[in-house]
Amino acid sequence: MSVTETLPDTAPDKGGPAQPLLIVRDLQKYFPVRGGILGGRKAVVQAVDGVSFEVKKGETLGIVGESGCGKSTTARLLIGLIDKDRGEIIYDGQDLGGTLSLRDLRRGVQMVFQDSYASLNPRLTIEESIAFGARIQGLPDPVGRARRLMERVGLSPDRFAQRYPHEVSGGQRQRINIARALAMSPRLVVLDEAVSALDKSVEAQVLNLLADLRREFGLTYIFISHDLNVVRYISDRILVMYLGEVVEVAPVDQIWSRQAHPYTRSLFSAMPSMDPDNRTLEPPLSGDPPNPINPPSGCRFHTRCRLAESACKTRVPTLRPLSVGSEHLAACHLHDLGSGHSKAGKDVLA
Ligand SMILES: Nc1ncnc2c1ncn2[C@@H]1O[C@H](COP(=O)(O)OP(=O)(O)O)[C@@H](O)[C@H]1O
Ligand SMILES: [Mg+2]
Repeated sequence: MSVTETLPDTAPDKGGPAQPLLIVRDLQKYFPVRGGILGGRKAVVQAVDGVSFEVKKGETLGIVGESGCGKSTTARLLIGLIDKDRGEIIYDGQDLGGTLSLRDLRRGVQMVFQDSYASLNPRLTIEESIAFGARIQGLPDPVGRARRLMERVGLSPDRFAQRYPHEVSGGQRQRINIARALAMSPRLVVLDEAVSALDKSVEAQVLNLLADLRREFGLTYIFISHDLNVVRYISDRILVMYLGEVVEVAPVDQIWSRQAHPYTRSLFSAMPSMDPDNRTLEPPLSGDPPNPINPPSGCRFHTRCRLAESACKTRVPTLRPLSVGSEHLAACHLHDLGSGHSKAGKDVLA
């Protein structure tokens, strides 16, 4: 994809189009559980455990998975809202904590959250809310920038600039949050359930706006949602998380026609408006995911997996391409070399 336009004052690209905009390697975040003890040691929630992925320049990576699988924690780690325990975050070729400062990361990567109201200061007018971050960063003409962005996200400055967040609708507030993120001239925008609280018709409008803005300004998105249809609409690739780990990553068309991981198959089969040609016969998931304080051994999905074999209980599967050079990766023993031709393997690959 060729990127022609950027937002004014966007930091110049350092590595060229072939270099990913973001590389995440072996990211880990455990949260201590207050007063919790497990097996004689202090208990921790293994919220994100060894997560690795890349985001190419100009693409949208969708992240899906059940509630509590670590999507928001991953997002918060990426923008430096919380500190990682372990792992690397490399933005435009620079390592966070090494050559990349937290300040530069926060300028380059902006986030939009689900709760449109909580992320705005109720005492600031809409114009001030959008201009605020740009002013703090010392970017030129923050008010002019705010008004131009308001226009661009469909909020007439003459009508809306002096209003307060509580005086507008949820969809309009989310447009303000998008303008506020863009006012910082980011290259990567992390959208964490950013349209999930909106009515369906408003959701579609905001999704279209996001798609237009990405094209227009050459932005890169990480789009997190529990709604697979929404993720499909906006994403180029989809990453699936389960209990703090990545279980599958693939270009959207590939994962839509063939889910390699049994968890992904269950997730897709639970979808209401699935294309009948591609519907899997997998029974939808039952029950809640296991407790991330004490996750299952081996493959974390084995306790809910219909195809689990004994090795799945002890050996941790690694995320690997389904075939040499493939962009479709899965972490499942049924795809490991040697068992690919087993009965269970054929079942998954069918
Ligand atoms: N600040 C925190 N302290 C303790 N546990 C947390 C904290 N934030 C998230 N968690 C736990 O980490 C796990 C992952 O949460 P989260 O990343 O919010 O998942 P998701 O966004 O996929 O729903 C959950 O079990 C959640 O309860
Ligand atoms: Mg979340």
